[in-house]
Amino acid sequence: MKDLFSKALLPYVLVIILSLLATGLIIWQSEGHPFVLIVLLLIDMVVFLSMFSLLFNKYVKPIHKATYTISQIVKGNYNVRFHSSASKEIEALSLKINSLARNMSEISMQEQRHSEQLSTIIDNMQSGLVLIDEKGYIHVVNRKFISMFGKTVKDYKGYLYYDVLEEEKFHDTVQKTFLYERNIKESFTHRSGLNKLHLEIIGAPIFNERSMLKGAVLVLYDITELKKLEKTRKDFVANVSHELRTPITSIKGFSETLLESGMNDQDTTKEFLTIIQNESHRLQLLIEDLLSLSRLEREDFRLVLNKFKAGELIDEVLPALKHNAEQKGLKFSVDIDSQLMMKADKERIKQVIINLLDNAILYTAENGSVEFYLGHVEDYIHIKVADTGIGIEQKAIPRIFERFYRVDKARSRNTGGTGLGLAIVKHIVEVHDGKIDVESEINKGTTIHIYLPK
Ligand SMILES: Nc1ncnc2c1ncn2[C@@H]1O[C@H](COP(=O)(O)OP(=O)(O)O)[C@@H](O)[C@H]1O
Ligand SMILES: [Mg+2]
Repeated sequence: MKDLFSKALLPYVLVIILSLLATGLIIWQSEGHPFVLIVLLLIDMVVFLSMFSLLFNKYVKPIHKATYTISQIVKGNYNVRFHSSASKEIEALSLKINSLARNMSEISMQEQRHSEQLSTIIDNMQSGLVLIDEKGYIHVVNRKFISMFGKTVKDYKGYLYYDVLEEEKFHDTVQKTFLYERNIKESFTHRSGLNKLHLEIIGAPIFNERSMLKGAVLVLYDITELKKLEKTRKDFVANVSHELRTPITSIKGFSETLLESGMNDQDTTKEFLTIIQNESHRLQLLIEDLLSLSRLEREDFRLVLNKFKAGELIDEVLPALKHNAEQKGLKFSVDIDSQLMMKADKERIKQVIINLLDNAILYTAENGSVEFYLGHVEDYIHIKVADTGIGIEQKAIPRIFERFYRVDKARSRNTGGTGLGLAIVKHIVEVHDGKIDVESEINKGTTIHIYLPK
């Protein structure tokens, strides 16, 4: 540095020394003539001034510019550049400053990209998120959180959590997270408009690199669907138990009575045994339906697809059903395209037809009629079962496919149905990627259409 400085300044110093020496020499020669003295003084002044201005332009001015450029970079303006070729040294400096500015700009762009990516991720999370610092101020709330709790980001950011988060469980979770410095899990229900949400909240402490607590992050999971499933499962178990209890109680009761009475009266014995037989038949049907449903619901369930003519399918199920219908005094008509080729799980489709026709026969009074049609529309096999029975009220139609749902509880149970027939139908049609359509009018009849892809 010292070297460079002396090298850069040497010519200027030499010029000044030379001009001073020359001045001294001339003064000595001219013996101090006043005119010469004045002229010399002027010349020296000109030399000094031009040296000074040269030095100023070459070093001081560019350094000023460089200082200004650096101060802009410090302020965060990375677009400034500094160009000067006043001297080799200054040129090197300008190159360094410009590359520093470029690097800083690259780093800041990268940082911006990262922070954009991070906020995109946070905002698109399927869980609500709140970030709180160690003093309790909220720094981040994401979009999902807003959709759960309403208001806008501005209403939360920068505020103390206990001032803006109304739910008591939030306060609990934050306090416990700070107190125990470990993850805390809680759950609560929250009303959001008309919906009731079941939420799970997890508070996790945030530490800095010196393991000091710097805040907490709260994550909110919407477990409403999970709760619903859990409830469906519980309801199902309760329903199954209820359905099983009725026939079992009756079998137990009648067999006990029979044993106690010593089976003396033949007629009563026969009557009781018939009841026991009917009830055990009902138990058997119920258990078979439950098994069918659980098989359909298994994770590893697979359809056994095979190709067959519609006629084959019908021959295997219709005679028995037709017999049932006629025994009940119903008109039974069939219209099928027997040559139609189908690709489906034959046994399951048979079950669909049996369940639908069973219902049609079951819910149609004497002298009514039941109609079965099988044909095709566009790319679909169309199966239609129509009856002139009791019909289903409009608001019950969407529910008849639920397990154990019966429009008329007492009556349907007495007819011998298990309450699972249509639930099984729906399942089978769905695994075939098919559709179901129901038309019904009270006391006029019901028509159920099934569409299966060919
Ligand atoms: N063809 C129909 N006519 C009138 N009601 C029907 C018909 N099919 C089904 N339902 C109604 O839908 C309910 C559910 O049917 P399903 O699942 O087969 O159970 P169930 O064992 O009671 O027949 C029945 O209880 C009945 O109320
Ligand atoms: Mg049924």
